[in-house]
Amino acid sequence: MLRIGPYTLPNPFILAPMAGVSEMPFRVIAFQMGAALCPTELVSSQGLMRLNQRTLKYLRFDPEVERPYSLQLYGGDPEAMARAAVTGQQHGARIIDINMGCPVKKITKNGAGSALLCDPERAGLIVRGIREATGLPVTCKIRSGWDATQQNYLRMAEVLFDAGCAALAVHPRTRAQAYTGLADWRVIADLKQHFPDQVIIGNGDVKTCEDARRMLDTTGCDFVMIGRGALGNPWLFRELLGGPAPEPEERCEGVLRHFEAHLRFDGESLSGVRTFRKHLAWYGHGLRGAAAFRHEVNQLDSVEAVRDAVRRFFAAARVDPQGPGEEQDVDYRAALG
Ligand SMILES: Cc1cc2nc3c(=O)[nH]c(=O)nc-3n(C[C@H](O)[C@H](O)[C@H](O)COP(=O)(O)O)c2cc1C
Repeated sequence: MLRIGPYTLPNPFILAPMAGVSEMPFRVIAFQMGAALCPTELVSSQGLMRLNQRTLKYLRFDPEVERPYSLQLYGGDPEAMARAAVTGQQHGARIIDINMGCPVKKITKNGAGSALLCDPERAGLIVRGIREATGLPVTCKIRSGWDATQQNYLRMAEVLFDAGCAALAVHPRTRAQAYTGLADWRVIADLKQHFPDQVIIGNGDVKTCEDARRMLDTTGCDFVMIGRGALGNPWLFRELLGGPAPEPEERCEGVLRHFEAHLRFDGESLSGVRTFRKHLAWYGHGLRGAAAFRHEVNQLDSVEAVRDAVRRFFAAARVDPQGPGEEQDVDYRAALG
């Protein structure tokens, strides 16, 4: 079932919402590589209601490429969420996704993100309120529960589908687990088994085409959502559809194109250069000489110097036969989902 609300999607592969990553430039690239849907990173319902300039930046999207455009909101107050969703709709959103998985305290202490797992009824009210206010399809993204003793994903699913949720994404770790351990795909299978007629989006630890295939086959989920596996590797979506991995030249051009789009989005200033460094580290991951390249670009503050370094490194870079170095591991503890 490749449908979400009124939309039939071309394939079962979705880019995960990732704060600081799933901004317009990266979403556009992922769509162009074949991703069927690329929700925004989490956007504050309070910020949106107040038309906060910083929040509005996260609403920017490319209407030519991003079809349908899915906006992820977070918040704990059903009324505020409904009002924010209306603003999102006025800015072009065609699907509203609700964050019910973010483990970060700043967000959960206001009853948002994974705190909603502790209050399924309020979560249901949020879905209902947004549907009534906008008429848009509403999707939700949950974790398996608050902690090991409260894995209430089936109850959440029951309430959310009852409220009219059009598709449910599950990252099967508890809030307490953050990013430790392995995602428990049995949770995804369990959800699909209990709700065979509903749309279930599986998420967690899909890094390769083989992982994606295995998740589809073993859990029966309708869609596979990919987060960290796409960092520095948007070509994964093309490979999932049977296309080739990038040759060095193509990778180099892709990184440069992303950099230019990122600068247009984030400002051609030092800030844009700095916020792109993490992408450069991810693009270099697993290539020979990646550690030295990362060290080099972390010292560079000018757009032209970064362009030169990217050309020099990526045009010749080959996959490191020894595999990615350990020092490139990223600490995701503070990641917002
Ligand atoms: C850097 C980063 C930022 C994230 N931000 C969000 C977010 O804004 N909203 C959300 O629902 N999940 C967020 N997540 C969680 C991912 O969407 C996903 O559920 C999680 O990374 C597990 O999938 P993966 O193993 O494919 O990465 C974030 C994850 C990472 C790594």
